[in-house]
Amino acid sequence: MPKPPEDSIDARLYNFPQLIEANHWAVDLETVKTNFQRYGLLDKQVQFVPGWFADTLPQVPIERIAVLRLDDDYYQSTMDILNNLYPRLMPGGYVIVDDWGLDQICGEKQAVIDYRNTHGIVDEIFEVDWQSVYWRKGLDSDV
Ligand SMILES: C[S@@+](CC[C@H](N)C(=O)[O-])C[C@H]1O[C@@H](n2cnc3c(N)ncnc32)[C@H](O)[C@@H]1O
Repeated sequence: MPKPPEDSIDARLYNFPQLIEANHWAVDLETVKTNFQRYGLLDKQVQFVPGWFADTLPQVPIERIAVLRLDDDYYQSTMDILNNLYPRLMPGGYVIVDDWGLDQICGEKQAVIDYRNTHGIVDEIFEVDWQSVYWRKGLDSDV
């Protein structure tokens, strides 16, 4: 996880003892591949993009997205994803957002709200459970 600003809500999560103990979930690419393989999910369709979102997503070779799944926890990380990838989500495609119910310790929900407000996105948000929500990109979206 990137280090968030000290005075941000994300710093609460970043400073959790369990997260520090887990080295902020840092893991090498080989471990990620092995975990995909363990579940029979490692094939040529899977592309790994190592690096921070702000560095990788502007150039990532993805033209059209059907399902955009966010589980990055932090405000700026969520903005990096939405700014770069939401315009590539096809009308009728889905956004699934994790950590919606954890808005006291991380900024993912607030970033989604701010992005939607900035771009006038009014597609209805549906709850999956206490933690997650989703919406379907409107067929007439111009974002
Ligand atoms: C809660 S974990 C979830 C990972 C995965 N969805 C899972 O369930 O195993 C959050 C992940 O977001 C990644 N992340 C958050 N901000 C990032 C950023 N700015 N650039 C790259 N990765 C980021 C971290 O590396 C971390 O693995």
